[in-house]
Amino acid sequence: MTQALIEKINKLKKDKNAVVLAHCYQHAEIDKVADFVGDSLYLSQAAAKTDADIIVFAGVFFMAETAKMLSPDKKVLLPCKNAGCEMADMINLQQIRELKAKNPNIPVVCYVNSSAEVKSEADYCCTSSNALKVVSAIGAKKVLFVPDRYLGSWVGNQLKDVEVITYNGFCPVHFGISVKDVIARKQENPDALVLAHPECQKEVVELADYVGSTTGIMKFAKESDNKTFIISTEIGVVERLERDCPDKKFVLVSQQAVCKNMKYHKLQDIYDALLNEQNEINVDENISKKAVKCIDRMLEISK
Ligand code: 13P
Ligand code: SF4
Repeated sequence: MTQALIEKINKLKKDKNAVVLAHCYQHAEIDKVADFVGDSLYLSQAAAKTDADIIVFAGVFFMAETAKMLSPDKKVLLPCKNAGCEMADMINLQQIRELKAKNPNIPVVCYVNSSAEVKSEADYCCTSSNALKVVSAIGAKKVLFVPDRYLGSWVGNQLKDVEVITYNGFCPVHFGISVKDVIARKQENPDALVLAHPECQKEVVELADYVGSTTGIMKFAKESDNKTFIISTEIGVVERLERDCPDKKFVLVSQQAVCKNMKYHKLQDIYDALLNEQNEINVDENISKKAVKCIDRMLEISK
């Protein structure tokens, strides 16, 4: 049944000149119909480059919006429209304007996990894999960083000559990972290396042997000679690592580390979206014109 559906999706993709982009927090079976699988940066680079007519985004709302802004002439479909991001919802247009008014003349760096409206008020966009590079490239003494307080302060701790003023947003999934979880998994697996996403709380990140984006974590684990890893991010990363590296052991730091938004899309939703060309994502033209500038700057710095 699943195989038949996979074949139907792959045929539809060919007929309609469509591509499927999948974030590595998706259900692992989605990879069987995906043309690109990776982290937010990789997927936005793929969205900017593709010559497909339709992009089906197996990810969350802000990712599909970003793809639309980078490829405005393409049809971008989000299989389940309710796939949002709780962190992105923590800041809106008015709140970023108020923050800028309180901190005038400071460059604004906006994590890609934010709405197009919020991006339209930012100078630079970044993802978890290039946040350090983007903030260093600005060359300013101070930057405002929205919405993720943990990614922002992690960047600030690495770059001693830049003051990073953070907003109070966070990811509830990564916030739910505690120091206690890490210590317990480490006691059960004393030889394991701890790999953490920078959206985790500071105290968790401090216990990590490696900190990086979802694909950064996967690359580190694949290239390391170590055999056991405690994965301090969403379960999708563990599922892919177990599939790709059967000779290694991957331990999910906490069973709570599941992003329900990322898990909405099933193969059937991808098929339905593509067949009916439904759940199209559009961005207001004026907002898009402004917001795309900070995304283009990020892509230029990340080349
Ligand atoms: P990545 O930048 O690692 O893809 O992370 C995106 C995300 O939403 C993490 O919660
Ligand atoms: Fe948003 Fe957190 Fe889900 Fe990432 S894991 S999409 S930051 S809610």
